[in-house]
Amino acid sequence: MVNNSEPLILGIESSCDDTSAAVLRGDRLLSNVTASQEVHRLYGGVVPEYASRAHQQNIIPVVANAIEQAKIHKNELSAVAYTRGPGLLGSLLVGSSFSKALAMALDIPLIAADHLDAHMLAHFIREDGENKAVPDFPYLCLTVSGGHTQIDRLDAPFRTVLMGKTIDDAAGEAFDKAAKIMGLPYPGGVMVDRLAAEGDRLAFHFSEPRIAGLDFSFSGLKTSFLYFIRDRLKEDQDFIDKNKADLCASIQHSIVHMLMEKLKLAAKQSGIRDIAIAGGVSANSALRDAVVSAGREEGWRVFIPPLSYCTDNAAMVAIAGWFRFKEAGFSDQGETPYARRDQKRDK
Ligand code: KG4
Ligand code: ZN
Repeated sequence: MVNNSEPLILGIESSCDDTSAAVLRGDRLLSNVTASQEVHRLYGGVVPEYASRAHQQNIIPVVANAIEQAKIHKNELSAVAYTRGPGLLGSLLVGSSFSKALAMALDIPLIAADHLDAHMLAHFIREDGENKAVPDFPYLCLTVSGGHTQIDRLDAPFRTVLMGKTIDDAAGEAFDKAAKIMGLPYPGGVMVDRLAAEGDRLAFHFSEPRIAGLDFSFSGLKTSFLYFIRDRLKEDQDFIDKNKADLCASIQHSIVHMLMEKLKLAAKQSGIRDIAIAGGVSANSALRDAVVSAGREEGWRVFIPPLSYCTDNAAMVAIAGWFRFKEAGFSDQGETPYARRDQKRDK
């Protein structure tokens, strides 16, 4: 049943290289539109200056499209939720300035959302008519993206306890760097995933750094991969081309194995059985499979977002906005974006 008295929340996401807008009625998705920026492929990574310019170009058509697809009129919106950080400052400024202006013009509340909170709450988005199970609090979430790799315990929306995080590269960076070494285009994670499907994950072994507790470290794995390939290329310059699928499957296997070890440890230490994954790397098929089978073995209830809510999207910003709306957690027009979570301040 659609409840028309639920608030209509417009979400806007512009923290990195995707401009996205979504409309939710309560927790029900009405639309989710994303414009990805192709320009960065030429440079093998996101160029912040180009990202901000592309957000400027994209934001009005993307928002207009989201409102149209939601079949609502902008005057019906109850609030505008936007990503305040972490992310690229120039990109965040485009989304935040636009959201502030729109909220002011429509005379509706403005809600600032944290990008990681939004990833971790994406499990609560319901597609129209869907009655799916959602995690019970407290639950654990492994958030794996291009910039972050961490395990949090969520005691309530926005009440998170960080249990462990990467001390160097993020898992997404490990995928992207491995892809770059193999000459695959940016962002490489999805290509590695695709090629790995044809490969043998046990073909090659790379040394996986071991660190105590729930923190992660991926830079040693990347170095091991780099040196391994460099040595093999000396013997055979076609080594990468001949072994691409096996290389992808093997590096993916290592990254997933390292993530799963820590996730299992976090579940054991906390005794929590509702386990979620989020962020761009949660789109990875091997990680998704590993979480499902660990769930079966360990007796977890697992929560894996549909692919459209793994990589950056505004639906997750809108759901964070909906949780804030319920507690009247509105924000001030004077708040400024933050590049890193530890730089978040009152204004
Ligand atoms: O969450 P996200 O879209 O942006 C950030 O907040 O960083 O995550 C992007 C990251 C990139 O590193 C990308 O390579 C990775 O997610 N990624 C994947 C897959 N799809 C996206 N990594 C592995 N397998 C995938 N299927
Ligand atoms: Zn993200």
